[in-house]
Amino acid sequence: MTVPPPWAMLAELTHACPLHCPYCSNPVELIGRARELDTAGWTRVMAEAGALGIVHAHLSGGEPLLRRDLEQIVAAAEAAGVYTQLVTSGVGLDGTRLAELAGAGLRSVQLSVQDATAETSDHLAGARSFAVKRRAAALVREAGLPFGLNVVLHRHNLDSLDEIIALAVEWGADRVELANTQFYGWALRNRDALLPTRDQLRRAERTLDAWRARLSGPPELVWVVPDYFEGVPKPCMGGWGAVSLTVAPDGSVLPCPGAYTLPGLTFPNVREHGLRWIWEESGAFHAYRGTAWMGHPCAGCPRREDDFGGCRCQAYAITGDAARTDPACALSPDHHLIRRLTDGDPPDPRTPLVYRRPRRA
Ligand code: SF4
Ligand code: FES
Repeated sequence: MTVPPPWAMLAELTHACPLHCPYCSNPVELIGRARELDTAGWTRVMAEAGALGIVHAHLSGGEPLLRRDLEQIVAAAEAAGVYTQLVTSGVGLDGTRLAELAGAGLRSVQLSVQDATAETSDHLAGARSFAVKRRAAALVREAGLPFGLNVVLHRHNLDSLDEIIALAVEWGADRVELANTQFYGWALRNRDALLPTRDQLRRAERTLDAWRARLSGPPELVWVVPDYFEGVPKPCMGGWGAVSLTVAPDGSVLPCPGAYTLPGLTFPNVREHGLRWIWEESGAFHAYRGTAWMGHPCAGCPRREDDFGGCRCQAYAITGDAARTDPACALSPDHHLIRRLTDGDPPDPRTPLVYRRPRRA
């Protein structure tokens, strides 16, 4: 069977990060700096990505600006014909660094912010960072690079959605990703503290509709659905091994950034295999590719080519079996496990947030 090439790559350059967000979707066990791929390793990855047909790389982390060789990695992507987007907290971005990155070929920037005010944003990040983010936004605007803002939404900031969108307008964002929390990795530990209520979500959707009706130009408002509440699973990653791959800081290659802990899979590493072999031949990428792996009810469902049975990592996190239908789907025999969370007694609003403290090498 011919495997169509991927078009996107998530390059997790490092797991190190100056922030401590409780909703972090990186794995609980982070990869330490000593195990990271070096400059030559990432240069080879970019060349192989271009040759494989990848057109878009998200340079992410952790905080990719912590890599002193980021400019070289960007240049390697540019030489390979791969469009690069920096996904950053903004911490460590100054005018000189941004000019160097743009000179190396960086094409766009996505900046995270945690809430609409310095006080609440810094509280959620677990670090003073809002003022730096504001400066970073201005620098990206001045540089004329396409500028996206990413805000992870949850119980502690959904009621500020109006102010968050107003902030995106003030900062001049072209696009805002309003990403309801996905409960993987560290975020799963904080599910009780982060899960919103249905009422909160309804109010937020009304706010979003009002802004969409009001705005005649940018920013584009992208709503990443809270799949726990929709009864409809998300087509995670556009399907397993279908359009995208993730390269971890140590060179392991995964079909998605949540797959680190899925049992029974050995993730190949770019130190031992070429990206093309990994994509086309490796067992990990074939495990849930297409529809042949599906059981009941997905196998006989008319939506199976649209949502690919939802998210494997979520199925595993909730049922302990990555091959089951995503319990976010109302047709899943495990859907009651989700309904218990969304429609049972609301979680205690005083549930404390557990902050992420990255291991330092
Ligand atoms: Fe999608 Fe499977 Fe649910 Fe059908 S049963 S909607 S294919 S997750
Ligand atoms: Fe891994 Fe959805 S995050 S398949």
